[in-house]
Order: sequence, then structure tokens, then C-alpha cells
Amino acid sequence: MFEGITHEHSAALEVIIKLRRSVRSFSAICPSQEAIESIIQAGLLAPFGALAVVGNPDFRKVFVIRSSSAAMEVAAGILKNKMAKLADELEKKVGPVPFVQNLKRVGQQGVSGVGNAPYYVVVGEKKGMPPVAAQSLSYCLANMWLKATSLRIGMQLVSATTQMESDPDFCGLLNITCGEYALDGCALGYPADNYQPPPVEYPSLTKSVSWL
Ligand SMILES: Cc1cc2nc3c(=O)[nH]c(=O)nc-3n(C[C@H](O)[C@H](O)[C@H](O)COP(=O)(O)O)c2cc1C
Repeated sequence: MFEGITHEHSAALEVIIKLRRSVRSFSAICPSQEAIESIIQAGLLAPFGALAVVGNPDFRKVFVIRSSSAAMEVAAGILKNKMAKLADELEKKVGPVPFVQNLKRVGQQGVSGVGNAPYYVVVGEKKGMPPVAAQSLSYCLANMWLKATSLRIGMQLVSATTQMESDPDFCGLLNITCGEYALDGCALGYPADNYQPPPVEYPSLTKSVSWL
């Protein structure tokens, strides 16, 4: 079944996997619609929870919000307010722990990746039984991330999007029924000039793997 795959394909994929990083500062130069569509196409080919979405051919939806559009302004405002509200609620429960402080800052300054990148892309996966929509979304975004990297386009996850699936204003903006889709999102754009992600240490084969 894998006829046509060569060592060159495998080597190229390895390069892309190693070069993938979170980009958190973007150039104002806008990737083309064609490039964004090819990234989304990679996401649409990601695995999905087949039993959970039986009879729902429409189980994955993608919304592309362009920077400086009215939709971006609305989305940024809704997300910011939601994060401020969540920070207040959480603070009452767990106190001013670092996570809450960070959420408060987001509630004041806005969600990174929404408005400061050329595109904010929201992906929705129809919820079902078993409840695996969130996992399916992760596979979808992982495919998008690798494809974006292969095009030298940067991506930043916007996890705050996952909090919006039951938000009437946010779902209204996307024109989906509130609560029907799990949501996740990302920002896409070329990295800002000279952007270098911070050093990161990933688990190693030697330390992380046990063969039983
Ligand atoms: C489930 C999950 C949620 C994440 N959410 C965010 C996010 O909302 N914003 C962000 O900038 N990075 C987010 N990240 C990215 C991680 O911080 C990042 O992958 C990690 O620090 C390693 O850095 P790298 O992606 O550059 O290799 C998320 C990663 C995962 C796995």
C-alpha cells in the first residue's frame, strides 16, 4: 500500500519534523490563499474518530479569519473577555497561582496569535460518542503544523480556542450550533524577520524509551 514512498520522502519528513517550532512573532507579509488552503488540506486528511462521527460527513469544519478583518476584531474581543472571565472564576477557586496570573494578563492584553498574525484558523470537530473530538483536532493541527513548516510558514497554537465551543458569541461568529463542535485553533504566518524560537529540549530515545 505504500508504493511510491521513497527514502527521500522519509528523509524530507524527518527534516520537517525537526524544524517544526512554535512561532510567536509574525511578519506582516501574508501567505497566499493557496498556501493556506494546502495547509488546511493536510489537516483535513488527519485521522478522525470514525465511530464518533458516523453519518456526519460534515464532521470537520475550518474557519479562516484574516487579520484586520471585522471578524478578527470580533473574535479577538470575545476571546479576550472570555479569558478575563475564566481568570476571575478560577482565582476564586484556586487563588492567584501562576496559571491564573497568566490568564489575567491574557484577559487584559488579548490572546496571542489572534490579531497579531495574518491568519487565525479555527478548526471544529463534531462531538460524538466516544468523546474523541479533542484528540482528532490535535491530529488535524499536527498535520497542519508540519505542512506549514514545509512551506516555511510559522504556526502558533491558540489553545484558548478550546474554551469557546459553548460560547454563544463565538459560535455565532462561526455560524455553528453552540456546543455541537469541539474547537481548537492556530495562528499562521511567516515568522518575523530574524525570529528565533527559544531553545527547547525534547525527550531523547535513550532516556525515554523502554523496550519490554
Ligand atoms: C496541547 C498544547 C497546547 C498548546 N497551546 C499553546 C498556546 O495556546 N499558545 C502557544 O503559544 N503555544 C502553545 N503550545 C505550544 C507549546 O508551548 C510548545 O509546543 C512547546 O513549548 C515546545 O515548543 P515548540 O513548539 O517550539 O517545539 C501548546 C502545545 C500543546 C501540546
